[in-house]
Amino acid sequence: MASVLVASNRGPVSYALAADGTLSARRGGGGLVSGLSAVSSEDSVWVCAALSDGDREAVRRGVSEPGVRMLAVEPAVYDDAYNGIANSVLWFLHHHLWDIPREPVFDAEFRRRWESYRAYNRAFAEELAARAAEGAAVLVQDYHLALVPGQLRELRPDLRIGHFTHTPWVSPEYARMLPQDIREELVWGMLGADELGFHTWGWASAFIEGARVDGAGGVAEGVLPADASWRGVHHHRAGGTARRTRVAVHPLGVDGDELRALAHRPEVDERLAGLRAEVGDRMTIVRVDRTELSKNVVRGMLAYRELLRERPEWHDRVVHLASAYPSRQDLAVYRAYTAAVAELAEEINAEFGTEDWQPVLLSVKDDFPRSLAAYRMADVALINPVRDGMNLVAKEIPVVSESGCVLVLSTGAGAYDELREDALTVSPYDVSETARALHRALTMPPSERTDRSKRLAAAATALPPQQWFLKQLEALRED
Ligand code: G6P
Repeated sequence: MASVLVASNRGPVSYALAADGTLSARRGGGGLVSGLSAVSSEDSVWVCAALSDGDREAVRRGVSEPGVRMLAVEPAVYDDAYNGIANSVLWFLHHHLWDIPREPVFDAEFRRRWESYRAYNRAFAEELAARAAEGAAVLVQDYHLALVPGQLRELRPDLRIGHFTHTPWVSPEYARMLPQDIREELVWGMLGADELGFHTWGWASAFIEGARVDGAGGVAEGVLPADASWRGVHHHRAGGTARRTRVAVHPLGVDGDELRALAHRPEVDERLAGLRAEVGDRMTIVRVDRTELSKNVVRGMLAYRELLRERPEWHDRVVHLASAYPSRQDLAVYRAYTAAVAELAEEINAEFGTEDWQPVLLSVKDDFPRSLAAYRMADVALINPVRDGMNLVAKEIPVVSESGCVLVLSTGAGAYDELREDALTVSPYDVSETARALHRALTMPPSERTDRSKRLAAAATALPPQQWFLKQLEALRED
């Protein structure tokens, strides 16, 4: 039985199945992996979903890593829950991504998928309930598992349950697009937790405000940041007992030492040499994202094109190193977006490129060493999401860049709260403003660039993953 449990859709390990039937394990990185390393693995378990055929085969063969428990939910149910609801409905909801004349459509098919989402959440809740020691702390992650806190509380009222949202939280007004019963189920699912964590007060307040509005079917009263010694929601569901759910903000940062060490490994040096040969002594504008609608890659490239159109003095003097690796390609809208990014990069190269200068170097591979090499070379980092829970890349680049980089950062990033003073901030929709900010960034005097970059790096490392994780654990055990 474990005294600390983590639950997330994507786990710390994945399995690949080779043609000859052998399985190989690959361990992933990320904030949660380093966070959980703060507690002993004998005492903890990480429950995650089997995502691929390789993962499912590993579960079938009983292969697992210590401290990791993979759930093989039936593939059709998983697909409905992950692609059909988590990625197509909840992701779009929290990031305000719908193309309103056409979407969303809540029909019988949606209801069927929602059933699967419920079942997939229930599989997690049951597994956690079976593995948790008396009074254990459970840290549930993200929109994939929004119903788990409520389901788990019913099964195991003794547990201390936390939930952390890595995305934004939908604004109350936008949330009203969801059918009312679904909206309430979502809010009450979350309110099963003792503590709900968010990256910023903006997202946390959106939750509190929404819960106040959507507590119907019971009473939920939001305690908003300004007027209380604690922040959260008092609630009393018909037939249940009165409880309160605390809402807290833990803005995840990066581990500076670990990141710098990773950025100086031989494979990164190798990529760096290759990139330097391509870029020469030109300046660089760097971005690294999943090809994700909310990351606003297309408007970022339009801004770069406008810079080159309006300020020809930059021709042959700058290169845009854009890493936009494919993500969620099971969804048609993501495939179309990925294609649009590649097309625009080609157009820019065709419009301005010369024999010796390729204005955009687009990489569509998920190649972390290459990304780190690009971070090291960054003179300017372009991070312009329309709406983004945190955006760790905005924190990573200033930590790793060698000559200090200027951060062009949109107001939509969660990181905006902590980094705005030393970044050049832009509206994610204003392409011309972004182009002007890129020019200002490229021409910033070296001393100002270095000073700002140092302060950005300090802010970025204020709450590294281990502390971020331990803070949540302590808060959960507090009362
Ligand atoms: C976001 C979410 C994470 C998710 C990641 C990658 O950052 O907050 O929970 O793991 O995207 O998305 P994917 O669908 O590839 O797991």
